[in-house]
Order: sequence, then C-alpha cells, then structure tokens
Amino acid sequence: MSDKKELRSRQWYGGNSKSAFMHRSWMKNQGMPEDSFDGRPVIGICNTWSEMTPCNAHLRDLAEKVKFGVYEAGGFPVEFPVLSASESQTRPTAMLHRNLAAMDVEECIRAYPVDGVVLMAGCDKTTPSLVMGAASCDIPAVVVSGGPMLNGVVKGERVGSGTAVFRWVEELKAGKMSEADFLAAEAGHSRSAGSCMTMGTASTMASMVEALGLGLFQNAAIPAVDSRRRVLSQLAGRQIVNLVKQDITISKILTREAFENAIRVNAAIGGSTNAVLHLIAIARRVGIDLCLDDWDRLGRGVPTIVDLMPSGRFLMEDFYYAGGLPAVMRALGEHDLLHKEALTVAGIPVWEQVREAEIHNTEVIRDWDKPLCKEGGIAVLRGNLAPRGAVLKPSAASPELFRHRGRAVVFSSIENYYKRINDPDLEVDENSILVLQNCGPKGYPGMAEVGNMGLPKKVLDKGIRDMIRISDARMSGTAYGTVILHVAPEAAAGGPLAFVREGDWIEVDIEARRLHLEVSDEELARRAEGFVPVLPPVNSGYQRLYRDHVEQADLGCDFDFAAESRELSVQRISH
Ligand code: FES
Ligand code: MG
Repeated sequence: MSDKKELRSRQWYGGNSKSAFMHRSWMKNQGMPEDSFDGRPVIGICNTWSEMTPCNAHLRDLAEKVKFGVYEAGGFPVEFPVLSASESQTRPTAMLHRNLAAMDVEECIRAYPVDGVVLMAGCDKTTPSLVMGAASCDIPAVVVSGGPMLNGVVKGERVGSGTAVFRWVEELKAGKMSEADFLAAEAGHSRSAGSCMTMGTASTMASMVEALGLGLFQNAAIPAVDSRRRVLSQLAGRQIVNLVKQDITISKILTREAFENAIRVNAAIGGSTNAVLHLIAIARRVGIDLCLDDWDRLGRGVPTIVDLMPSGRFLMEDFYYAGGLPAVMRALGEHDLLHKEALTVAGIPVWEQVREAEIHNTEVIRDWDKPLCKEGGIAVLRGNLAPRGAVLKPSAASPELFRHRGRAVVFSSIENYYKRINDPDLEVDENSILVLQNCGPKGYPGMAEVGNMGLPKKVLDKGIRDMIRISDARMSGTAYGTVILHVAPEAAAGGPLAFVREGDWIEVDIEARRLHLEVSDEELARRAEGFVPVLPPVNSGYQRLYRDHVEQADLGCDFDFAAESRELSVQRISH
C-alpha cells in the first residue's frame, strides 16, 4: 500500500511558506490545535444538510459522529456544505439540480485540502450528486446515508411516504375527511427525521450505495433516528481514514462488478426507475460504459423478494428489523447473482460482509421461491418510438397490458394534460395509450416526475385502474402502473415522440421489449420537416447551461462535459 504517497493536503498545510501560513492561520481561528496540520489525513465531510431538504436536516448531527470517528483514527475532519437538491421543496424538479450539485461537490473537493471525503446524503438526488462529484475526483470516499424516517402512522394505519396522499386529498374534497384530520395526517405521515420510508428513490439510492460497496453494513435501512445510525456514522469516520492511508480511491470500489451487483440488488428490492439514470451517470464518471441493455440483461430473472411499498406492504423500518439489505445480498449470492469479490469501503469483499446475514421476517424479505414478483428487473423497450430506449418496471405494471395495441391520446405538455384529461369530450377509453411529450431533460427542463399521469375520470369511473402511459419524463419511486418512461431521444430533442399524433396506433410488447409507432418512416420524416422544439423559456443562467449540455436519459442525463474522472491535481496557489 502507498503509505509513502504524500497526502494531497500537505500541499496546503506542509512547510512554512506564505501560503502554508495563511492556510493554517485562518483555520486556527476555529480553534484547531497545532497538530491538526502535522500531516494527518484531512477528511472532508461533504454535507447536504439543509432545512430546505427536510430529509437531510439531521445530517449535521450525524456529521458530529463522523468527526468522532475521524479523530479516533487519527484524522482531521472538516465539514463543508454543498448544494442540497431537495425533492420535496424545489421546483420545477430536484433532478434539474442533481448535476449542479455534482459540479459543486467536484469543485469543492478539487479546491479544498482534503485527502478523503465522507458524503452525507439522504433525499433522492443528494445521493447521486455526491457520488458523481466524488467519482469525478477519484478520491477515497464513504457514503453515510441519513436513513429512512420511522414508519408513517395515521389513525393506527401504517402509511408510506406519499402513498396515501392522493386518497386523502380526494376524501377531503368529497367531505369524507375533516381539515383537522387532513392536517394531522400530514404530521403522522412524516413523523421523524429521515428520508422517505417506502422503497422510493431515496431508499433505493441508499441501497445502491450499500450494494456498490460505498456504504458500510446496513447503511440503507437503519432508521434515521435509531442509535445504530449514529454508530454507523462514527465507524464511517474511522474507516475513511483507513481508506486514505491505503489509497483506496472510489474507482477501486466502483468497478463494473459493483454496478452489476447494484443492478441485481435493485431488481431484488423492487427499486426505483430513477436508479437507472443515476447509476449510468455515476458509472460514466468513472469511465465505465454502463448502458440500458445492462439493466435489462442483468435484472432478468431476478425476483423481487422485498415486500415494501409501493409494490408491496411494508416500510423501511420493517426492512431493517427483517435483516435489511445484507440479507437480500446474501440471497443473491446464494443464487450466483452476486460478484462476491467486489471490494467494499469496509476494506473487505462484499461476500465477507453479507454471507452470514439472516432474514428475521419472511413476510418482509420473502423466501426466494415465494417472491413478491418473479421478474423484478427493469425492461428496456426499443422501437421507432424510442430508438435509444425507454424503461418500464414490470413489477409495477399490469400483466394484462404487457401486449397491447392502442390509439394515442397526445398531450403536448403536463399543463395540456391537466387541461384536457377530464374533458368529457376527450376521445379516450381504457384501450387508449396516453402519450406525454416535452417533459424530458431539455424539454421540462430537468425531466420531472410526471410520467405516471393519472387516468381520466371517465375511465376511473368504470373501475379501471391502469392504462399504458408513455413519456420522456420520469416517475417517482413511489409511483405505480404500466408506465413507459425515459423515452430517448426526448420530444424536445426531436425524438420520434415529438411526432406522435392523436389517434396514431401504438404497439407495446413488453416481453419482446418492443415499442412501435404504426407510422411509416416516410410519414415520420414528413412530420419532422421544419421541426421546432417546444421549449419553455429558461429563466436562469444555470438552466441555459443545463439545456445546452444535458445528455439524454439513456446516458443518465449528465452533462456532456462531465463524463470520466480527471486527475485530482492540486490547484495553483491562491495568493
Ligand atoms: Fe426527500 Fe423523499 S422527499 S427522500
Ligand atoms: Mg421521490
């Protein structure tokens, strides 16, 4: 190991130059003792704490435990804030800010005298943004997730984040729920620190972190307020110092095998479709060409054994008590679906971490041969409507719609959808296919979670609960239905989705992975003539940058200039 390699931070704090004086002197105004600068590893604690990201509001507290661990191992911890992309508070969508936050993280790591980082994440986009930024720097890194909230409980009923909101809104409107009960439900629904406690995007990404080997044992499931989350934080602080001493940088963890493990774990937990975008973006930052076909191929035949909402019945707190992610990874390993040698930030191969993990409740983590769903992976559909692919989560879809031919009802924007969907004159029935355009990365901008459009009232009134929906948007990890998402190229980039017209026939065959618009190539070319993209005005400099440089969904919606890590060279002196 390269104990001898000089730590990067020495270029700031070593010697007695004018620069070294200044770097040290200003730090000393915080009460740092002299030996903070004696050559011990400087550990950045990169924190997405924010009161505007309620899911991450407790991360300052956990960072204190990380600091204990760093001190114990002989390091010097320094906490700094980065942009916190807040799923619940930001508009138009936190996804717009994922890449901005990733740039923030990368630039901070490059600019500061840090030798390793602990990445404090929680809410959906905060996890990928931190990992993407650190990956671009190829620095030693450990992720500490904030952990899920306690189970929601309202009037004795177990409720998952977001799962009952629609029902309550309807009941309030219909006078079946009082306003007082509605407001009380808000408090019971989110009753502790932590991130959404369904298997939505936040829990999925915390699981991806653990599956990739970037988080310590049980990183995904320990509840935010459980004392063991604090223990994990302290251990992470100790471990990052070891990783720096051994020069185990993030690219040694983020191997192709690690990503393949994560894709299979995603299938086994019934994880969010958003993970497809985030993992591809992270992989590209370490130069691994992970693609949509990897998702389709690796997830096939992997059953979903975790019975969590939105697909199932339970919540993250139950998942932890049942054995958590290590128990799921052990099951995968026992079925030859795990690269057992993949290295983790604990410094040991993943199999060594999980091989003795036990399942304590087979209602929550099912037996392999009694899964929640036999096909837990992500289906990647292609055809003339999505030449670069589209995704669908078969476990969330209705089997009777797996092969379907229907006429398109086309909405040019989400506003257009809201305006027309309940118009009694709209020509739509349960066999129609709802098509939504201009909600992709460039078109929204930021690819909002609007792909799971609600059904028209006149279809709902017949008792029908699902229809095929197609768009270039995303959907929330807590959503459900036969929803074809992430169509690439998107409408605003001139993809064929832009040229679908009301009444066109569309054929969907999920088994055959086919998405076909029954319009001839000649006719499509004719419709494309003089194409002018529908783009809402950008209202900030960043939005312009985003629109000009964001990649399509099949490449993970990163910036076209961001892929591949670059050398973590020390910047020129500042004074
Ligand atoms: Fe933050 Fe769900 S809104 S995790
Ligand atoms: Mg979400």
